[in-house]
Amino acid sequence: MSTFDQNQTYLLQTDHTTYAFAVNADGRTQHLYWGPKIADAAGIPSPVIPTERSSFDMPHHQTPEEYSGYGGVNYTDPSLKISFGDPSLGTTVRDLDLRFFEASQIDDHTLRITLRDQLFTLSVDLHYRAHPKYDLIERWVSIRNDSDLEIQVERVVSARWILPIERRYDFHHMHGRHAEEFQRVQEPLTYGIKRIESKRVTTSHHHAPWWALEEAAGEEFGEVWFGTLAWSGNWMINAEVTDYDSTRVSVGWNDWDSAYKLKKGAVATTPSAFAGYTGGGFGAASRQMHAYVNENILPHKGITHPVLYNSWEATYFDVDETSQIELAKKAAAMGVELFVMDDGWFHNRVVDNAGLGDWRPDAKKFPNGLGGLISAVKKFGMDFGLWLEPEMVNPDSDLYRAHPDWVISFPNRPRTEARGQLILNLAMSEVQAYLVDTIAKLLAEYDISFIKWDMNRNISEPGWQTSPGDARELWVRYTEGVYAVWGELARRFPTVIWQSCSGGGGRADWGILRYADQVWISDNTEAVSRLSIQEGFTQFMPASVMEAWVTDWGAAKVPLGFRFDVSMSGILGIGGNLNHWREDELTLAAEKVALYKTIRHLIVGGDLYRLLSPREGAITAAQYTAKDGSEAVVFVYRVFQIDLKPVAIITPRGLVADRMYRVDGQNQIRSGEGWMNSGFRVTLGNLESKIIKIEAV
Ligand code: GLA
Repeated sequence: MSTFDQNQTYLLQTDHTTYAFAVNADGRTQHLYWGPKIADAAGIPSPVIPTERSSFDMPHHQTPEEYSGYGGVNYTDPSLKISFGDPSLGTTVRDLDLRFFEASQIDDHTLRITLRDQLFTLSVDLHYRAHPKYDLIERWVSIRNDSDLEIQVERVVSARWILPIERRYDFHHMHGRHAEEFQRVQEPLTYGIKRIESKRVTTSHHHAPWWALEEAAGEEFGEVWFGTLAWSGNWMINAEVTDYDSTRVSVGWNDWDSAYKLKKGAVATTPSAFAGYTGGGFGAASRQMHAYVNENILPHKGITHPVLYNSWEATYFDVDETSQIELAKKAAAMGVELFVMDDGWFHNRVVDNAGLGDWRPDAKKFPNGLGGLISAVKKFGMDFGLWLEPEMVNPDSDLYRAHPDWVISFPNRPRTEARGQLILNLAMSEVQAYLVDTIAKLLAEYDISFIKWDMNRNISEPGWQTSPGDARELWVRYTEGVYAVWGELARRFPTVIWQSCSGGGGRADWGILRYADQVWISDNTEAVSRLSIQEGFTQFMPASVMEAWVTDWGAAKVPLGFRFDVSMSGILGIGGNLNHWREDELTLAAEKVALYKTIRHLIVGGDLYRLLSPREGAITAAQYTAKDGSEAVVFVYRVFQIDLKPVAIITPRGLVADRMYRVDGQNQIRSGEGWMNSGFRVTLGNLESKIIKIEAV
């Protein structure tokens, strides 16, 4: 249980960790501890206010405040920065002095700490929730303007996470680009601030909202502090080492170009930031996050994700009833369970610069609507899914001709088109209503089980002429609009499964996972590149949401079996042009799909152990182990490398020490501890892969 005692020490307890802070003698909330569990508050250090060192280094600056307002003599990265116009002074005030006001225990695991400015009636509620089983802490903030003045919020983070002082951490994060997402980076964190962020209105391919800090950790050992932000718009993660060797990570809405007006009585609530501590390395950190997402966030928890076929790389915009039925027939014969028609099906969509916005079947390609295709797909025993890009519009569309004022732009300035498209302003309620109505109509008319929600460009010229507040609120209101539309559709059509896509992995975050059960993580479907993209993705996202297709990309060099084995470590999809596949390839594909169906419960519901990293050598291995340790599956891949010895030693994880196991390809039965400690040998040639089942006997 998480508590607070009379001495105003606040403890957030999880199964294996403790997070503690207190109110110090100055009335500020001071961070005290975050690390391995300390069961009793008596074990927590009491808050000591640092001594003044000089006029340049006052106590306030050195105090590790849980959440700090910009003001006074504190020069560290602030959590909240506001300004308010004071008519009596005829000026704008930009100073905040946040002190403890009251604390409330909401339930066994949730605390609310209210801070107030000393002079100005502004309340800042710091919400803390411990998630004991997952060793995670969730934090979010709401600010209420109780004054008669209008305030402008210029920065408000969801949390500032403070790590043990005077250590030398390495900062881990993920950078990327389109078709090259989730590439891990490790660098020493030194004095100053290192920021990763998105300024693109979506989560972005270019940085993932994940951070980790450690001093001497590896995949399965050592202390790691880590976290993420549940938000799908502009975000920032500022990792700071202060001049007094305090390391902290501020996580929240990006403060770049940001302003948020709060009128009298108005409240602004931030998204949740989640963070955790583990002594078990990056693997344990990921497993804590995976379990939390699977059991608490996803809209359809624990479902069996169907093996899907997606038409994009096979037919691009050239879709019609006949060509899709032909593909569907071949897909069904292979064991596919869901047939998804991608881009190209709607009104006037012959190339990529027309049609977006007009979400009705193209009359030339589908003269009788989608009904014929859908009933053929159903007859083949599959469900049907469809691609949409709701937030976008092409200037060449009926929607744009009717509502040119709905796009994001500045008046009298050029608007940049990317892929020939503009962005609808989802902050506007009329745009939200149009999208809900249009998509609801499609979902009501047709038997559609799956929607791929795409978004194929980033924002530019971020104007919002009809904004009721500051036009810069667009950054927040747009994302709230996406959530509102998606949420309403999910409410009306609760059985539909949604995929989040933004030109691949541009919208992969814990915020969108409240709506989407699957994520398209990259437009790069080449299996070798995919190894590191998938490894990065699993740092903070479970394999249960990771959609991966087998396509023809790289087919000349990379065997079909290898391409399948890579995709089978997530939600298996097929996206090659089946009309070009040989008989033996179709047969192999059917065998792989059948094998996949025997292991997918482990991929969706098991624990992931990244045994060998693609960043460290030519052989990659990953294991998915049933939570009760009764079975597991190991994927091993070798990319091309001349002169590499062909043998890898695989040391499986997560087995029950004293149970006996059989391992595919090994003619011995050994105990779990035997296999885990001494491992087994796997022989692999270049571009060869293996799927190895481990079963308790
Ligand atoms: C994006 C998606 C692809 C495909 C195309 C269609 O790039 O990531 O999978 O849907 O759009 O235009």
